[in-house]
Formats: sequence, structure tokens, C-alpha cells
Amino acid sequence: MNVGYFGGTFDPMHNGHLHMLDAATEKFALDLVIVMPAGMPYHKDLLSVSPACFRYMMCRRALSRRPEVVLSAAEIRRRGPSYTIDTVHDLKRDFLPEDRFYLICGSDILDSIQHWYHFEELLAELILAVAIRPGEKRSSLEKQARELRQRYGAEVVLYDTPMLPVSSTAIRGQLEAEPGRPPSDLPPGVMRIIRRYGLYREPNPLVWLQPETRRQVVELESKLFDLISLKRLAHSMSTMFEAVRLAQRFGGDVNRAALAALLHDFAKELTVSEMLSLAPGLTSEYGDSNATLHGPAAGLLLEPVFGISDPAIASAVTWHTTLREGATQLDKIIFLADKIEPSRTFGDLGPIRALAEQDLDAAVLATLEGVRQHLIREKLKIHPASLAAMSELMRERPGAADLSARRKKKKRKKDR
Ligand SMILES: [Fe+2]
Ligand SMILES: [Fe+2]
Repeated sequence: MNVGYFGGTFDPMHNGHLHMLDAATEKFALDLVIVMPAGMPYHKDLLSVSPACFRYMMCRRALSRRPEVVLSAAEIRRRGPSYTIDTVHDLKRDFLPEDRFYLICGSDILDSIQHWYHFEELLAELILAVAIRPGEKRSSLEKQARELRQRYGAEVVLYDTPMLPVSSTAIRGQLEAEPGRPPSDLPPGVMRIIRRYGLYREPNPLVWLQPETRRQVVELESKLFDLISLKRLAHSMSTMFEAVRLAQRFGGDVNRAALAALLHDFAKELTVSEMLSLAPGLTSEYGDSNATLHGPAAGLLLEPVFGISDPAIASAVTWHTTLREGATQLDKIIFLADKIEPSRTFGDLGPIRALAEQDLDAAVLATLEGVRQHLIREKLKIHPASLAAMSELMRERPGAADLSARRKKKKRKKDR
């Protein structure tokens, strides 16, 4: 069996990657190609590389019509620095000794492979399938390949690819310069993900986090890959970006906001009985459904699962669905970020998002009112904690309700 291994940051995956992959599949008669988005490269952080869940999601969409391709999250799940040699060893366990492994790569590898971790061992494990871009000088690449063969006994094969003169860096640049315009080198569907989660928007709010928090976020994301679905993880990440923006805007604690937002939904995929058995402190004061219990359950499980004992974070996670009387600013930020992050489409969020630009309490109140109306329409009861939060906000900020109503009215007028 011929197996291709194609790794990279893929931030985002583009048509150049796909051409390279397709040409290698044909040239080397690959039966299977394993595409492996990198975890967080150890020399980079979230300011230079997008969260893994978004990169993985874009790869999945880009590769959806290629049955010979398997997308693997092994490097994302592995915490700490990830080296190709470790990944290759892990992969090979599932194959026969006679299966041939091709590392699909660009010609820059001919210069850099000698600096890779345990590169001699790596060269003994696989064949370098080096793509030659149009315009690259074949003779000098052949010379470099010959040297690798002679010095290290490497198997190196060069292949031509109709690869486009495109790079992820150039695509990110285009998206930042003209956010509404899809770059032509993006595979169908990838732009939809970029739009849905508001990716590559400048400025990156994570610049406001301490480096230690950014490191924690990377580790937590990798852990969350095992705990929740990709869609929920992307929502949590998106909530994190929104919460950090809100915290920065209203003078809140951006670091706590990031951690609370990222973890707010990690218990959502547990059943009620699982929640009750894992978090014995859970009581019926929170209600008895998954919708009302997953916040309090996550609040109680933060320390045992993630080692986070900060009561402010636990409170924001606990009350993110219903809010409560006496809510802190962080509670409100997480409650609001969860409802208005860019991928949320329910109801008419425009006026609430506009309020959230200037007045946190008014935006929170408008959101609670929206939830209340929705529950009335669905003939469901509003949680007493939400009612208490609403009454308190209306008492303390009588103007906030007016502001929210005025904005809605203005919006309705504009729509007419
Ligand atoms: Fe939730
Ligand atoms: Fe959520």
C-alpha cells in the first residue's frame, strides 16, 4: 500500500495545497493520504497561528470530496511540541512493514530537513515526495536531492505540480485588506467557515492576553478536542474571542474572560445523569435539564478536569445560560459573548450586537428579554435566576431597558 502523509499549519488550507496533494496522489499511486494539521507549533503562539479547531474545520471542508484522504487530529491532540518523527512512528503502527510512506512536501524541505528533529531516522522511515512548483529550477533541486541520497541514504523523488503561486500568508493578507471578498484560491466552503467565525479579522483580540493565558488556551483547546464535538469547540473558541473583545471594551479582566468563555460549554454533551454522577454538588436549584444544568456542572468540574479553581471563572461558567441576580461583570460578559459570538444566527442579533458596542448592561438586558420572548413563544418557563437578573438590571439601570427598546424600534423603522 502507498500512503501519503501531508502535514502543515493549513491556516487556511488553499487550492495550492490541494493541487500538491492531487498531483502526489496520481504520481505515486497513493491509496491513502493522511492530512495532519499541526497542533500549535512550539515556536509560535495564538497571535501568529489560528486556533487548531478552525484550521481543522477548514481542512475538513476543503477535503470533503476526496475519499482517499483521511484527516487526522493526532498532532492537535498531542500536547506539547510535536515532531514529525513521533507522528510517523505513531502512524506506522497501524500499517504493515511493507507499506510505503511518502512525505508530501515542498522543495524548501531539501534545505531544511537536516535541521529537523531526528531527521536521519525520519529519512529512513519515509520517502520524500518533493513538489516542484512551475518556474523552479529542476536541475538544482535534483542536485540537492542527490546529496541527501548519497549522504543519508534518503529516498527522494521529485514531482511536478501545477501548484499555484499562492500562500496562506498571502490569503490572510487579502482577507484582512478586503474582508468581504473571497480570495479566488480558497476551496469552496472554506470562505463560509471564515465568515461564520469571523476569522482573520484584525486586530486579533488575543494580543490583549498575557502570554501565559495564551499558552493555557492552546493546552485547553487540545484537551477539549477529546471532550466535545468540533462544532461546539469552534463555538467555544468564537465565544472566547467575543468575550475578550467585550472585556477589553468595558475594562474587564481579559484573561479570566478568555478562560471562562473557552470552557463554558465543556459539559454540554454530558447527559443529565452523567452530570449528576460526576458533579455530586449539583442541585435542583439550577433546574433539571441539560440546558440548565450544563453550566453549573461545568462550574463544579473546572477544578477536577482542568485544575482551574478561580471562583470568578467558575461563577461565570456556572451562570452563562441563565445569568443571576448579583451577576459580576465577568458573568455578564460570558453570558453575552455566548449569545452574540459571530457564528450565532438565532433571532435578530443586530440590535444586541450594536448595544454591546457601547453598553454592557443594556446588551445583557436586551438578550435576557430576547430569551424570555423566545421561551414564551415556545411555551416554556423562564428560569427564575434569569427573571431575578432582569428585575435587578431594570431596577439598577432603568435607562438600559429604554435604550434597548429604542434601538429595536430604530432597527424596525430602518427595515421597513
Ligand atoms: Fe451553554
Ligand atoms: Fe455556548
